[in-house]
Amino acid sequence: MHAVQPTSILFVCLGNICRSPLAEGVLRHKAAELGLQDRFVLDSCGIGKWHVGNPPDRRSIDIARHHGVDLSDLRVRQLGLDDFYGYDFILAMDRSNLADIRSAQPRDGRAEIALYLDYCGLGSRLGFNEVPDPYYGGANGFEDVFQMVSFASDILIQKHC
Ligand code: 4NP
Repeated sequence: MHAVQPTSILFVCLGNICRSPLAEGVLRHKAAELGLQDRFVLDSCGIGKWHVGNPPDRRSIDIARHHGVDLSDLRVRQLGLDDFYGYDFILAMDRSNLADIRSAQPRDGRAEIALYLDYCGLGSRLGFNEVPDPYYGGANGFEDVFQMVSFASDILIQKHC
């Protein structure tokens, strides 16, 4: 018997304070609830460096807590070259993030790069394939993102467990 290799996934958005911490934290929470925490290595990061070292946006922390998920330990970091070698998957929240990731991708990087919602098979089901940036909107935007990542996380668990 040998242990199943975990799937490593890096979630990427622009600031790493709103969308990608929710994608990371909700998947980690759901996997742990099912006793599947050892099947994943998860992290998130941002394209930009404005918020490096900070916790997620208060509104992401609050919506997650409202649904029983704790994001308060997460800290912003920026996408780096090592990520292309260290992760199985790098999943972008929107097409702009995807383009930025692709332009930083080294030739010999091993990570598979995709849009998060498309990778989860949700793009065609939802009729859109980008997680909308809730940063400049109201609280509803954060609840909408939470629902999307909750649905997507269930699919990621089914795909990889
Ligand atoms: P995120 O949202 O990419 O989902 O974390 C944003 C957070 C911060 C900024 C933009 C988007 N910003 O311009 O600082």
